[in-house]
Amino acid sequence: MKRVLTGIQPSGDLHIGNYFGSIKQMVEAQKTNETFAFIANYHAMTSGSKELAELTMQTATDFLALGIDPEKSTFWVQSDVKEVLELYWVLSSFTPMGLLERAHSYKDKTAKGIASNHSLLSYPVLMAADILLYNSEIVPVGKDQIQHVEIARDIAIKFNNAYGDIFTLPEYQVQTEVATVPGIDGQKMSKSYKNTVNIFGEEKKQLKTIKKIVTEQVTLEEPKKFENCNVYNMAKLFLNEKELINLQNRYTKGGEGHGHFKIYLADVMWEYFGEYREKREYYLAHQEEVRDILETGANKARAVALPLIEKIRAATGIKY
Ligand code: ADP
Ligand code: TRP
Repeated sequence: MKRVLTGIQPSGDLHIGNYFGSIKQMVEAQKTNETFAFIANYHAMTSGSKELAELTMQTATDFLALGIDPEKSTFWVQSDVKEVLELYWVLSSFTPMGLLERAHSYKDKTAKGIASNHSLLSYPVLMAADILLYNSEIVPVGKDQIQHVEIARDIAIKFNNAYGDIFTLPEYQVQTEVATVPGIDGQKMSKSYKNTVNIFGEEKKQLKTIKKIVTEQVTLEEPKKFENCNVYNMAKLFLNEKELINLQNRYTKGGEGHGHFKIYLADVMWEYFGEYREKREYYLAHQEEVRDILETGANKARAVALPLIEKIRAATGIKY
């Protein structure tokens, strides 16, 4: 059993790319690993979110609805365990500037014209603190976050070289078998491209979004290709083998248009997330329960963090 840790930024409505690319794996991992999952609200500050408090509660609610089980996982909000900020400072002294200046994510953001500030640059140091504070062994990430886990490892090695084997060295894990979920325009689905199909939303609105999916221009009668069809590629995430073959046959037979397949996709998706919607309604009506879950999670996380931070205080001489 390995300790798996993951952080989620509270950055808005979750989409089906988030679900199949990350959340579903997290829920699965609960069965076989010791899972630690937290809402990275300090990290979200770097993008200047105005509704951070609301988004934090919304993200917690959505993750619980989608299957994060507080009995199995330690689930908390990053800022509820303040020791992470202490470790962030300690690690700063073991972080060469060059390491941060070379980070792709930082370079991409500043190249896009986002004003550089200290939190944008030091973002990977806080992420290293998140990872190292809880003795994480495995960190599942999207491709864009690999380098950040490598930075955490580099910092841990530097610290261990100075003070002995205090930190567990983390490894990243990329979900290669999960293909990138396409958005309604066929590009990677992403909030920043405004091409998302959200998990939770009104039924009519969902259908309206799905109707906007870009498809080939062909007549109703013509047989259609399913292989590169954006509707098909989205639908297949929700279907079993039999249903998939059935849909393929509908494409190749002709006589139905993409409009029909879109309605089918909307129905299948609505059904798929049905039980999650119900759970979400429950948690929305019981926000105090969500807060209690997060508090219990923070206490569990702190209990893991405290012995390590004590060791670090002793080793560095902060404890006098
Ligand atoms: P966004 O691109 O919408 O801002 P995030 O960067 O917040 O999404 O991604 C959160 C998680 O969801 C990451 O683990 C990422 O790998 C996964 N993810 C996001 N979009 C997709 C996608 N289109 N296909 C597969 N996984 C995705
Ligand atoms: N930077 C991650 C992201 O944007 C979120 C995150 C913060 C994280 N701290 C972490 C992920 C620690 C894994 C481990 O997706």
